[in-house]
Amino acid sequence: MTHNQSCAGEEDSAVGVLRIRAMNPEDIDQVVGLHLDCFEGHLLVSLGARLLRLYYQAMLAEPATVALVSEDKQGRIIGFAAGTLAIGVLYSRLLTHDFPAILLATTPTLVRHPLLCRRVLRALVLRLVNPRVKGAATLSSFAVEPRARGVGAGTNLFRAFVAEVRTRGGVLLVWGAKATDDSARPFYARMARITGAISSRIAGEHVTYRMAVRDFPPDL
Ligand SMILES: CC(C)(COP(=O)(O)OP(=O)(O)OC[C@H]1O[C@@H](n2cnc3c(N)ncnc32)[C@H](O)[C@@H]1OP(=O)(O)O)[C@@H](O)C(=O)NCCC(=O)NCCS
Repeated sequence: MTHNQSCAGEEDSAVGVLRIRAMNPEDIDQVVGLHLDCFEGHLLVSLGARLLRLYYQAMLAEPATVALVSEDKQGRIIGFAAGTLAIGVLYSRLLTHDFPAILLATTPTLVRHPLLCRRVLRALVLRLVNPRVKGAATLSSFAVEPRARGVGAGTNLFRAFVAEVRTRGGVLLVWGAKATDDSARPFYARMARITGAISSRIAGEHVTYRMAVRDFPPDL
């Protein structure tokens, strides 16, 4: 099953009836807009919308991708969860096939802000030192628009993401956040408490969680 064949569902919530469905290429502009709003100061955002567009295009081109969006009654995307069952394949693609386009998209920003080069290198090193677990799925980006938060949309998306990973044979889910991310930290701490996910701090500033997919309560 590919990412665009799966996982649809409706959830009642305080922001109206939300539909969770697979992310499509037509969703990329909305998802990029939401990503820019939700991850201010993060490296990918600093590198600009063109890079983010390439990133999500690459994700949707890979069969191992799991990418879901949550939309409100009007069909507007209010949240997304995107990751992969093969993170190595995604990064290989970004660093080979997509590299010329990425270079073109990011060079003007890197020339204007050369200090970002250090952050790019650091992020790549972090990816390398973060041990890859065989068979692990990765949740790489996950957000709900600020005004729709705190009423369960994130939990519903997370649950749908885990269910999809499970359906596609993933046994372990890895995700992470900056230790300073105030909105994600309590959410992830709760998920870790509920599921027994193990957290570890990487390079002092990044927290990574590892959860056995079977430990996620389906009725959460
Ligand atoms: C992390 C994030 C996706 C959570 O989304 P959300 O929609 O607010 O998530 P929920 O509403 O399910 O849960 C948020 C809180 O509301 C509470 N909540 C959920 N449903 C509720 C309800 N019906 N009534 C009251 N509170 C509720 C939850 O218990 C949770 O509390 P906790 O954070 O202390 O654990 C969101 O904060 C976000 O987009 N953050 C910015 C992006 C980010 O940092 N992403 C993660 C790094 S990749």
